[in-house]
Amino acid sequence: MEDFVFQNTAKIIFGKETEKKAGSEIKKFGGKKVLLHYGGGSIKKTGLYDRVISSLRENGLDFIELGGVLPNPFVSLVRKGIRLCKENKVDFILAVGGGSVIDSAKAISIGCNYEGDVWDFFEGKAEPEAAVPIGVVLTIPAAGSESSVVTVITNEDLLIKRGYHSDALLPKFAILNPELTMTLPLFQIACGASDIIAHTLERYFTPTKNRDLTDRLCEGLMMSVIKNAEFVLSKGKPDYDSMAELMWASTIAHNGILGTGRKEDWATHKFGHELSALFGITHGASLSIMFPAWMKYVYMKNLDLFVQFAERVFSVNPEGLKKEKIALKGIECLEKFYIKVGLPTRLSETEVDLSKIDEMAEKIVSRGPVGNLVKIEKADAIKIYRLAI
Ligand code: NZQ
Ligand code: ZN
Repeated sequence: MEDFVFQNTAKIIFGKETEKKAGSEIKKFGGKKVLLHYGGGSIKKTGLYDRVISSLRENGLDFIELGGVLPNPFVSLVRKGIRLCKENKVDFILAVGGGSVIDSAKAISIGCNYEGDVWDFFEGKAEPEAAVPIGVVLTIPAAGSESSVVTVITNEDLLIKRGYHSDALLPKFAILNPELTMTLPLFQIACGASDIIAHTLERYFTPTKNRDLTDRLCEGLMMSVIKNAEFVLSKGKPDYDSMAELMWASTIAHNGILGTGRKEDWATHKFGHELSALFGITHGASLSIMFPAWMKYVYMKNLDLFVQFAERVFSVNPEGLKKEKIALKGIECLEKFYIKVGLPTRLSETEVDLSKIDEMAEKIVSRGPVGNLVKIEKADAIKIYRLAI
């Protein structure tokens, strides 16, 4: 096991009608003037917007609002949010939505105390000295941004989608009410499940030796997500209990606990970000395409772990099979799961322009090789994209 420091202070408030607590929680964390940040309008259709506003008003909180966050959120709206917060002396940001809204809120929060352009953080040119505190009302189990120290933003002028890590980005609290997920389209639920599994796989496939506890935590989490996502997708509509399992899994998969004591990989997310930046592919769908391809390229580098994945997560029967065959069966089972829940597993199922593979591979390694199980260079990246065709 590797040495590690683990700290996650995001307060999780889980359960029915918990969005009513948004106002009182903001008050507890010292907020007085709030930016209410949200996406393309789902929260207005579902009535969540009205309930959140009532909670703010009941707690005597003054607020302004900024909606319109798109999936794969744009830096232009972040810049607008920063201007608004500075002009109105906002001291708390409430993100109501999914990973895109939360990430946009996080980027605004560090931009408010910085004189330069917020993209500087993503270029490694600046570190936040302070951040406006953030709270979250989560509406989709997926990105895990509600208790992560990451924000992922798209610079639409440069066509770059990039993550930025800082402890300053951790939300103060996150409200998780599974009832709020009942209006999700099935495709978004499947994409969410894919992202949760991807966050687990990025940690699971490691070069670190001797990691029994976190291996088993990762395996248990993936088995639960597969079971509940398949159940919801086969029924054709979400139910409270399954969505509650997925919602808690989304947080646990990305709050840092599964990566304790092990080197993490994260190459596959970078492959996915290129597909989203250039072609607008939904995050979870980019990962259901790229994970099998990456796995097929690297599995021989830690064959025993890929065998363990196949046997424990998908109950592949090893009898009479060589290790290599068992590992490949595990990858095949994962692909079958994606297909079962309606996700793409090949670039050829999408609008991706394959002539851009070289350009995407170049961008992935623009700041050096990526990944830890295998250090991916440009030539590897091209081969992995080709495996995904
Ligand atoms: O914008 P609205 O109208 O709200 O619609 C959204 C959006 O179209 C809709 N939606 C969300 N909750 C709903 C709902 N529709 C009906 N009912 C509800 N209850 O779902 C669509 C997708 O929303 P989005 O926020 O984009 O989804 P997700 O949570 O999957 O977030 C994806 C973003 O998170 C980033 C991804 O890169 C991507 O940009 N990630 C952030 C991470 C982090 N900060 O730690 C880690 C992840 O790896 C990921 O990269
Ligand atoms: Zn992700």
